[in-house]
Amino acid sequence: MNYSSPKYSLAILLLFYLPGLSAQDPPKKDLRAFFASNCVVCHGPDGSARGADGSRLKGQDFTNAKEMKDFTDAELAKTIRKGKLFGRMPSFKGRLSEAEIMELVQQIVRKAEKGKAITAPYETTK
Ligand code: HEC
Repeated sequence: MNYSSPKYSLAILLLFYLPGLSAQDPPKKDLRAFFASNCVVCHGPDGSARGADGSRLKGQDFTNAKEMKDFTDAELAKTIRKGKLFGRMPSFKGRLSEAEIMELVQQIVRKAEKGKAITAPYETTK
Protein backbone atom coordinates (compact mmCIF):
# COMPACT_ATOMS: atom_id res chain seq x y z
CA MET A 1 0.00 0.00 0.00
CA ASN A 2 1.16 3.45 -0.83
CA TYR A 3 0.69 5.42 2.40
CA SER A 4 1.37 8.75 0.78
CA SER A 5 -1.49 8.39 -1.74
CA PRO A 6 -4.12 11.14 -1.65
CA LYS A 7 -6.86 8.56 -1.09
CA TYR A 8 -5.20 7.33 2.09
CA SER A 9 -4.79 10.82 3.55
CA LEU A 10 -8.41 11.62 2.74
CA ALA A 11 -9.57 8.56 4.69
CA ILE A 12 -7.45 9.62 7.68
CA LEU A 13 -8.84 13.15 7.47
CA LEU A 14 -12.45 11.93 7.41
CA LEU A 15 -11.81 9.65 10.37
CA PHE A 16 -10.96 12.66 12.53
CA TYR A 17 -13.36 15.12 10.95
CA LEU A 18 -16.66 13.20 10.88
CA PRO A 19 -17.16 12.70 14.64
CA GLY A 20 -16.63 16.46 15.07
CA LEU A 21 -19.33 17.18 12.52
CA SER A 22 -21.95 14.95 14.12
CA ALA A 23 -21.26 16.51 17.54
CA GLN A 24 -22.29 19.89 16.13
CA ASP A 25 -25.67 18.60 15.04
CA PRO A 26 -28.23 20.03 15.79
CA PRO A 27 -26.89 23.61 15.74
CA LYS A 28 -26.85 25.25 19.14
CA LYS A 29 -28.63 28.50 19.74
CA ASP A 30 -27.28 30.97 22.28
CA LEU A 31 -30.42 31.30 24.39
CA ARG A 32 -29.06 34.04 26.63
CA ALA A 33 -28.35 36.16 23.57
CA PHE A 34 -31.82 35.27 22.29
CA PHE A 35 -33.29 36.41 25.62
CA ALA A 36 -31.26 39.63 25.48
CA SER A 37 -32.56 40.57 22.04
CA ASN A 38 -36.15 39.28 22.35
CA CYS A 39 -37.31 39.28 25.96
CA VAL A 40 -35.40 42.01 27.84
CA VAL A 41 -37.69 44.80 26.55
CA CYS A 42 -40.56 43.39 28.62
CA HIS A 43 -38.90 41.12 31.19
CA GLY A 44 -35.79 43.17 32.02
CA PRO A 45 -32.07 42.28 31.79
CA ASP A 46 -32.34 40.14 34.96
CA GLY A 47 -35.90 38.85 34.35
CA SER A 48 -37.38 40.97 37.15
CA ALA A 49 -39.47 43.02 34.68
CA ARG A 50 -37.62 46.16 35.71
CA GLY A 51 -35.79 48.36 33.24
CA ALA A 52 -32.25 49.64 33.81
CA ASP A 53 -33.79 52.75 35.40
CA GLY A 54 -35.99 50.64 37.72
CA SER A 55 -39.21 51.28 35.81
CA ARG A 56 -41.80 48.50 35.72
CA LEU A 57 -41.91 46.78 32.31
CA LYS A 58 -44.88 44.91 30.79
CA GLY A 59 -43.81 41.29 31.33
CA GLN A 60 -44.00 38.79 34.17
CA ASP A 61 -41.40 39.20 36.97
CA PHE A 62 -39.48 35.89 36.88
CA THR A 63 -37.78 36.69 40.21
CA ASN A 64 -41.11 36.81 42.08
CA ALA A 65 -41.00 33.32 43.59
CA LYS A 66 -44.52 33.57 45.00
CA GLU A 67 -46.04 34.25 41.59
CA MET A 68 -43.74 31.88 39.70
CA LYS A 69 -44.56 28.84 41.83
CA ASP A 70 -48.14 28.98 40.55
CA PHE A 71 -46.91 28.14 37.03
CA THR A 72 -45.73 24.69 35.95
CA ASP A 73 -42.82 24.46 33.48
CA ALA A 74 -45.34 23.28 30.87
CA GLU A 75 -47.47 26.40 31.41
CA LEU A 76 -44.48 28.73 31.08
CA ALA A 77 -43.42 26.88 27.92
CA LYS A 78 -46.94 27.21 26.53
CA THR A 79 -46.89 30.97 27.06
CA ILE A 80 -43.56 31.29 25.22
CA ARG A 81 -44.86 29.05 22.42
CA LYS A 82 -48.30 30.62 21.98
CA GLY A 83 -48.08 34.06 23.54
CA LYS A 84 -50.61 35.52 25.94
CA LEU A 85 -52.96 38.43 26.59
CA PHE A 86 -53.84 38.93 22.93
CA GLY A 87 -50.25 39.38 21.88
CA ARG A 88 -48.97 41.49 24.74
CA MET A 89 -46.77 38.45 25.35
CA PRO A 90 -45.74 37.54 21.79
CA SER A 91 -45.63 33.97 20.41
CA PHE A 92 -42.17 32.54 19.68
CA LYS A 93 -43.38 29.34 18.07
CA GLY A 94 -41.68 29.86 14.73
CA ARG A 95 -38.36 30.94 16.21
CA LEU A 96 -37.64 28.36 18.92
CA SER A 97 -37.81 24.57 18.93
CA GLU A 98 -39.68 22.78 21.74
CA ALA A 99 -36.33 21.79 23.29
CA GLU A 100 -35.13 25.39 23.17
CA ILE A 101 -38.35 26.63 24.80
CA MET A 102 -37.90 24.11 27.65
CA GLU A 103 -34.25 25.18 28.06
CA LEU A 104 -35.38 28.79 28.24
CA VAL A 105 -37.90 27.90 30.96
CA GLN A 106 -35.63 25.69 33.06
CA GLN A 107 -32.22 27.32 32.62
CA ILE A 108 -33.12 31.00 32.27
CA VAL A 109 -36.66 31.85 33.46
CA ARG A 110 -36.53 29.55 36.53
CA LYS A 111 -33.02 30.68 37.45
CA ALA A 112 -33.58 34.41 37.14
CA GLU A 113 -32.24 36.37 40.13
CA LYS A 114 -32.87 40.03 40.87
CA GLY A 115 -29.85 42.11 39.82
CA LYS A 116 -28.10 39.24 37.99
CA ALA A 117 -28.07 39.92 34.24
CA ILE A 118 -29.10 37.09 31.90
CA THR A 119 -26.65 38.00 29.19
CA ALA A 120 -23.52 35.88 29.72
CA PRO A 121 -22.80 33.55 26.79
CA TYR A 122 -24.86 30.39 27.06
CA GLU A 123 -25.40 27.28 24.97
CA THR A 124 -28.17 24.73 25.11
CA THR A 125 -27.14 21.35 26.48
CA LYS A 126 -29.19 19.50 23.86
C1 HEC B 1 -43.87 42.84 24.24
C2 HEC B 1 -43.56 42.40 25.59
C3 HEC B 1 -43.04 40.99 25.84
C4 HEC B 1 -41.97 40.35 25.25
C5 HEC B 1 -41.08 40.87 24.15
C6 HEC B 1 -41.85 39.07 25.92
N1 HEC B 1 -42.82 38.94 26.87
FE1 HEC B 1 -43.09 37.34 28.13
N2 HEC B 1 -44.71 38.26 28.97
C7 HEC B 1 -45.22 39.48 28.58
C8 HEC B 1 -46.48 39.72 29.29
C9 HEC B 1 -47.36 40.95 29.15
C10 HEC B 1 -46.68 38.60 30.12
C11 HEC B 1 -47.84 38.34 31.08
C12 HEC B 1 -47.59 39.10 32.32
C13 HEC B 1 -48.67 38.90 33.35
O1 HEC B 1 -49.56 38.05 33.15
O2 HEC B 1 -48.57 39.57 34.37
C14 HEC B 1 -45.55 37.70 29.90
C15 HEC B 1 -45.38 36.51 30.55
C16 HEC B 1 -44.30 35.64 30.36
C17 HEC B 1 -44.06 34.43 31.10
C18 HEC B 1 -44.89 33.96 32.29
C19 HEC B 1 -45.82 32.87 31.94
C20 HEC B 1 -47.27 33.27 31.98
O3 HEC B 1 -48.06 32.38 31.67
O4 HEC B 1 -47.62 34.43 32.30
C21 HEC B 1 -42.94 33.86 30.60
C22 HEC B 1 -42.27 32.57 31.05
C23 HEC B 1 -42.46 34.73 29.54
N3 HEC B 1 -43.31 35.79 29.42
C24 HEC B 1 -41.32 34.49 28.82
C25 HEC B 1 -40.86 35.31 27.80
C26 HEC B 1 -39.70 35.02 27.01
C27 HEC B 1 -38.77 33.82 27.22
C28 HEC B 1 -39.58 36.03 26.10
C29 HEC B 1 -38.56 36.15 25.00
C30 HEC B 1 -38.33 34.98 24.16
C31 HEC B 1 -40.67 36.96 26.32
N4 HEC B 1 -41.43 36.48 27.37
C32 HEC B 1 -40.88 38.13 25.61
C33 HEC B 1 -44.66 40.35 27.68
C34 HEC B 1 -43.57 40.09 26.85
